[in-house]
Amino acid sequence: MSINSRHDAWSTGESYDRYMGRWSRYLAPRFLAWLGVQAGRDWLEVGCGTGALSGEILARCQPRSQVGIDPSEGFINLAMQKEKDPRINFCVADAQDLPFEASSHDVVVSALVLNFIPDRHKALLEMRRICRRGGVIAFFVWDYPGGGVGFMHKFWQAAISLNPSAVDLAEDVRFPFCTREGLMKITQNAGLREIEITQIEINTAFRDFEDYWQPFTLGAGPAPGYCASLDPNSRERLREKLRHELAGAEDGSITLKARAWAMRARVD
Ligand SMILES: C[S@@+](CC[C@H](N)C(=O)[O-])C[C@H]1O[C@@H](n2cnc3c(N)ncnc32)[C@H](O)[C@@H]1O
Repeated sequence: MSINSRHDAWSTGESYDRYMGRWSRYLAPRFLAWLGVQAGRDWLEVGCGTGALSGEILARCQPRSQVGIDPSEGFINLAMQKEKDPRINFCVADAQDLPFEASSHDVVVSALVLNFIPDRHKALLEMRRICRRGGVIAFFVWDYPGGGVGFMHKFWQAAISLNPSAVDLAEDVRFPFCTREGLMKITQNAGLREIEITQIEINTAFRDFEDYWQPFTLGAGPAPGYCASLDPNSRERLREKLRHELAGAEDGSITLKARAWAMRARVD
């Protein structure tokens, strides 16, 4: 694990859901509507986590079969508890070495994963290998470099102003390829064709400051991992700074925008 990724803690499903899964669930229907895949297809989801996208695929796309893989046993266990539909299976696996035969699936998707995979090119080649001719490969990632994830951007701005050395941990610095041009390049390099890229934007609405802050204390993901690693005084200083800067509406609620890039392509 590199120094920048030491806080990428993906293990506790409930904590992940509080921090990120809830927003991934908002993005999923918009992403699937944009894909417009017909019923009766064999789906593979890479990096399914706790099943935010998996559940939406089952509910909206009438898959013939569906598999979700993720290297985190904790996430896979939670996804299995949630989704009991007989069409779906989950297994612990890595995107860089998919345990499936060539040309075994029609649709290969992933949600908020690609940037966390050490060798993205290899993962895309694997996705292409197991996708049938004429099949679809698609994913979405946050628009980190464009400051597109408001709740995360605010967190890192405050964290860096208190501790400038945290700058290298922020996702916008770690994942500069998450732009239209960057995504086009890596998908073209993997030999994908008919590539289309679009933006999906959602509102992330927090009831009050506690609803915003508490998920950062749970340690699941890069920013929460950093937050949990702080000593109590530093954490309190960060909390107070954010509380001051996020003073929101009269009822205490906080609404920020979050923007993702979505990519779809065909395998020929
Ligand atoms: C931000 S979470 C997204 C989870 C889920 N797709 C969602 O939308 O909520 C990132 C996920 O990528 C997974 N991941 C990290 N490295 C991976 C790899 N090499 N192969 C497959 N998945 C990976 C993590 O375990 C985690 O579940």
